[in-house]
Amino acid sequence: MGFRTRQVHLVRRSVGLAQPTDFSVADVELPALEPGQVMVQNLWMSIDPYMRRSMEAEATDLEPWPLHGPLDGPAVGRVIESRNPAYHPGDLVENMSGWQEHFISNGDRYVPYLSPASSLAVRQAPGARPQDYVGLLGIAALTAWGGMARLARIEAGNTVVVSSGAGTVGSIACQIARIRQARVVSSAGSEDKVRWLLDRAGVNAAFNYRATSADVALRELCPKRIDLVLENASPEHLSACLPLMNELKQILIAGFVGTYSSRGNMKIENFEYALDRFLTIQSYRIMDFLDEYDTFVADMLGWRAAGKMRLEETIYSGLESAPEALCALFTGGRIGKTLVRLADG
Ligand SMILES: NC(=O)c1ccc[n+]([C@@H]2O[C@H](COP(=O)([O-])OP(=O)(O)OC[C@H]3O[C@@H](n4cnc5c(N)ncnc54)[C@H](OP(=O)(O)O)[C@@H]3O)[C@@H](O)[C@H]2O)c1
Repeated sequence: MGFRTRQVHLVRRSVGLAQPTDFSVADVELPALEPGQVMVQNLWMSIDPYMRRSMEAEATDLEPWPLHGPLDGPAVGRVIESRNPAYHPGDLVENMSGWQEHFISNGDRYVPYLSPASSLAVRQAPGARPQDYVGLLGIAALTAWGGMARLARIEAGNTVVVSSGAGTVGSIACQIARIRQARVVSSAGSEDKVRWLLDRAGVNAAFNYRATSADVALRELCPKRIDLVLENASPEHLSACLPLMNELKQILIAGFVGTYSSRGNMKIENFEYALDRFLTIQSYRIMDFLDEYDTFVADMLGWRAAGKMRLEETIYSGLESAPEALCALFTGGRIGKTLVRLADG
């Protein structure tokens, strides 16, 4: 008899905001391991904004999630049984087989977004906790690091604007910009998040975009205009930045989380400033930084140990809470990285 486990399945492709009822929890049987295979028990899974687009039947840059089948997403787990000499019971393995408590891997090497979901990378950096591999050392963190530590052309004293500053990419990007001695201005969707940005993330100025329009706030908070934008939020926010950019400066786009529940709204205004001020505008992806993974890990753990980097975690417990965790990402209120704890260990 095989091994029983649970998976979350998508049962409906909703329009607009995702609902927990778009998902169900399925009890499934996994077969016995064949030679070369490995059984993994996931401990933590990541909840990410791009998953809203995976729920759609067609996405321009993603494989859609199937209906009534296993989903994928960043996770970290432990090998509990191995018929592959490269893996041993107890190994901590990063993988893309989130949304399930256990899965079988053929032992392929994990490359984010490029390898099969069940591929594995053994992780054992000194000082890292298991959940760090879907948090401080996860895909969103690498996005922030790639943007702010590698692509950003900034000097001490430059004004850097980061949207969605209390989210994962945003909060890490703000702190790296501070480490690079920039003057950081950030936005978030509540007064609590603004307070967190000022008191805990150490930004120089912050505003609540739900209470004050980005146009008005940025004009006031950026008296020397803007040298770099790291955009996470929306075309509206980017449109408000454009007239305030200094000449020859840079805009990095990690994503537009505000458009993921309604893809129609992609209009960018004030684009003439991009031409008149000779701006560099670049959308980028984490694959560009995979060769530098070890440096990224050393930087993040070193900064955390030195008290210069923190990542807040909003933690849900149990596989059945994962749909609610994903839906809540788009209604605000949570600071930092959203994680689901699937098992202790
Ligand atoms: N390029 C890449 O390879 C890559 C990789 C990972 C992530 N990303 C992108 O980076 C961005 C941030 O991702 P993340 O992992 O940091 O997400 P996250 O931790 O879930 O944070 C997302 C933040 O987005 C804000 N938000 C939610 N709905 C919004 C809306 N309708 N309008 C404006 N803001 C909204 C929320 O903050 P407020 O309450 O403050 O609004 C939330 O804190 C996303 O656009 C994501 O797709 C890109």
